[in-house]
Amino acid sequence: LPIGKEISNQQRANNIPSDMISRANSAVISSINGQTEEIIYRSGGTGSVTPLTHPYLGPNSWIRVMPERGTKCMISRRAEDGEPYISAYFSEATASNYTKATDESRFYYKSLREGEIDLATPGIANVFLSRRGTVEIRGGLTSLKLHSDGGEIQARSPTHTRQVLGNKRQKVGDEERFGVVQRPGALNVKFPGQSTIRNIVETIPTFFAKEYLRHLSSDGPIAGVTLVDHREGDVYQDSGIPLLSATTGRKLRSITKYGTEVPGIITTTEVDVDGNISVSLPASAIQGLQVSVNGPGNVKFTVGKDFVANVLKSIILTSTTIDLKASATTTATGPLLHAKNALIQLGSNASSPAIKGDALMTWLGLLVTWLGTHSHPSSGAPPLPAPPIPVPPATMLSSVVLIK
Ligand SMILES: [Fe+2]
Repeated sequence: LPIGKEISNQQRANNIPSDMISRANSAVISSINGQTEEIIYRSGGTGSVTPLTHPYLGPNSWIRVMPERGTKCMISRRAEDGEPYISAYFSEATASNYTKATDESRFYYKSLREGEIDLATPGIANVFLSRRGTVEIRGGLTSLKLHSDGGEIQARSPTHTRQVLGNKRQKVGDEERFGVVQRPGALNVKFPGQSTIRNIVETIPTFFAKEYLRHLSSDGPIAGVTLVDHREGDVYQDSGIPLLSATTGRKLRSITKYGTEVPGIITTTEVDVDGNISVSLPASAIQGLQVSVNGPGNVKFTVGKDFVANVLKSIILTSTTIDLKASATTTATGPLLHAKNALIQLGSNASSPAIKGDALMTWLGLLVTWLGTHSHPSSGAPPLPAPPIPVPPATMLSSVVLIK
């Protein structure tokens, strides 16, 4: 029905005086009340109060908008009692908004194509649903784009965090942190061009520290035990100060702590800024660190309580012994092989003392001399007592080297 006809029909149906019903008037919202959701609007020379009209407001669901002061709207009146209500919002500034978007970097006022939806607040909180299926959510400095075409989710923010069960506010843990290092209570600095003070950590003034941190604690019987704590990049403590290597005292590029089932007992791997790598295992790590190369050759290298290298042809180091085993031949090559042991055994179950060569040579020389110089008073008679037969000295035997 034409509007005039509809109004006259309503007038007849409700038997309301004709001055209570009118065509909609344009108005400007001059103030709002967030508690009562009422607005004051000016229309013509007068100001009036009316409940806010939301785009949709159901008993348990809604699309609510609090209009800004200065918003232009249409005020209509209900047929039954003549109460005013906002029947529509309209803007006469659309063209100038496009200009501002270009000239004043109000970039969030974008031109829309058919079927597109854009929601925005003055602080550049923005949700844009594109015609082609891309969703863009912006919160000031940060944004999330769900690219329909590219098959990519692109999140942009100085710091990205994901918190899970166990995470507590104002505390690092049970979360993933990626990007600029931020810590509760750390040094407060400003982003360039931003007025907001944040708990940013700087590597040196004006350079932000960056990290990739992953932390999970157990929710099991021993609640709170660290399952894993990994930090890489600029490595910082929870307090916001650099974490140094326990081995070298230098700044770290990476550290991973794996918790055992005992609180405080951990395995730690570190890489420092000089490239040093260290691995530290707790006393409970009976098997230690193992490196295996499978297939022909079958090399297995174990650093444990008893160090084992290449299990087939093994070197086993314990705190008191070195056990060297070969499947065929053991060869030591070098300018000098010096065994400084108090006892050296050559061959299994070696028990016989080795002969000292120089002592043997001395005694053999004495024996040869004696053989050449002794005489017999008659054929078949024993040798004269002088010179006496040289006796082999007991010192000829080694007390260090035993042979089989
Ligand atoms: Fe003789």
